Amino acid sequence: MQKVFVITSLSLFVLIAVSFSNESLRSKYSRPASQWPVPNIDNGIEWKELGILPESPLENSKDSLKNIIELGKSLFFDTRLSGSGKISCATCHDPALNWTDGKEKSIGHEGTINKRNSPTIQNTWFFKSLFWDGRSKTLEDQAFAPINSESEMHSEMPDLIMKLRNTKEYPGLFTKAFGSPGINPNRMTEAIAIFERTIVSNKSKFDHFLAGERETLSNSELRGLHLFRTKARCMNCHNGSLFSDNQFHNNGIQLNGNPENDKGLFTVTHKDEDVGKFKTPSLRDVTKTGPWMHNGKLQSIEDVLHHYNKGANKNSSADPKIRVLHLSKRELKDLGEFLKAISAPPVEFKKPSF
Ligand code: HEC
Ligand code: HEC
Repeated sequence: MQKVFVITSLSLFVLIAVSFSNESLRSKYSRPASQWPVPNIDNGIEWKELGILPESPLENSKDSLKNIIELGKSLFFDTRLSGSGKISCATCHDPALNWTDGKEKSIGHEGTINKRNSPTIQNTWFFKSLFWDGRSKTLEDQAFAPINSESEMHSEMPDLIMKLRNTKEYPGLFTKAFGSPGINPNRMTEAIAIFERTIVSNKSKFDHFLAGERETLSNSELRGLHLFRTKARCMNCHNGSLFSDNQFHNNGIQLNGNPENDKGLFTVTHKDEDVGKFKTPSLRDVTKTGPWMHNGKLQSIEDVLHHYNKGANKNSSADPKIRVLHLSKRELKDLGEFLKAISAPPVEFKKPSF
């Protein structure tokens, strides 16, 4: 009897303690973000607090750019841009899949399997460089690449320009967009880039929380937010309103010595220290953009969390910021819940019809 009493009061005490600690975490995170608990970030790292994504720089000029955006949208969805006539940008960046393709590695011209996983194009206006290895600095420059790439759309630019000049609709669309009917590669990529700057992610539960609805996050999601900023060390790289520091790191996803390894940033800089470094991806909508990592190697969020929890393999040249985390089962679950809370279904989008 006494034993039962002790156990009951003990569990009651634990229950109260747990709810009390939730309570205090909630009150801490109810303050403005500048007064949140200090994150666990290593010395010397420049970082920004998590926050609401600023509006796309095009937000106020959408009306005046309407016709260029329409042209860019047509080009983005048009399979005539590919050599085979079967592939458009949207084949690998599908609006229904948060502008990714859901594949480990994307599949292009005549079934060629690409070297890398297709990232989302949501919020790409925010990045200082594009591609996993940062080889493009602007969306205008980036758009040339897939059109010509043998493993993606495999078109010859001069042929493509001729093809578009001979269509029923494009001379008219280019005139409406640019004031004259000229169809050339620069106008094409400019229109695609401007269209892409309008593609942003939807508001997540966490955005509502940031906007002041402090009750929207469940206790588990709230604990996940705290872990993300502290014990789990994610903020060392995934920080600011896009959850990316706009830099390159090796997070230990590849083991050394594998001849199939993708050298990442090294292929751009040719500096030894850049082998295996990739751009820190945004984590907005992350639960919707799998499989994950540059090679699509991780197939579930549980795999991702396990990867970080076990720390870097000694045989991986990972960044020293990747360490064993000792997260318990419950903590892993909470962190996963937070990743869901920063994910939202895509903004509703009407595809152009041809
Ligand atoms: C066959 C699939 C495929 C097609 C078609 C394709 N892409 Fe991609 N896209 C990818 C892959 C894979 C990557 C990552 C490549 C890399 O990092 O080396 C990528 C990267 C990008 C990025 C960089 C995103 C970032 O966060 O760095 C943008 C922007 C983009 N594509 C836009 C386009 C546009 C515009 C088109 C059409 C002109 C297009 N893509 C066609 C697969 C594709
Ligand atoms: C040292 C910097 C660093 C730290 C710390 C870090 N990441 Fe990453 N993260 C990266 C880089 C770089 C990539 C891309 C690596 C690649 O593709 O090889 C990445 C990729 C990811 C991806 C895949 C995204 C996608 O679209 O494919 C997820 C999810 C992720 N990180 C979550 C986390 C979480 C959760 C934490 C904390 C437990 C964390 N990261 C800690 C740098 C970091």
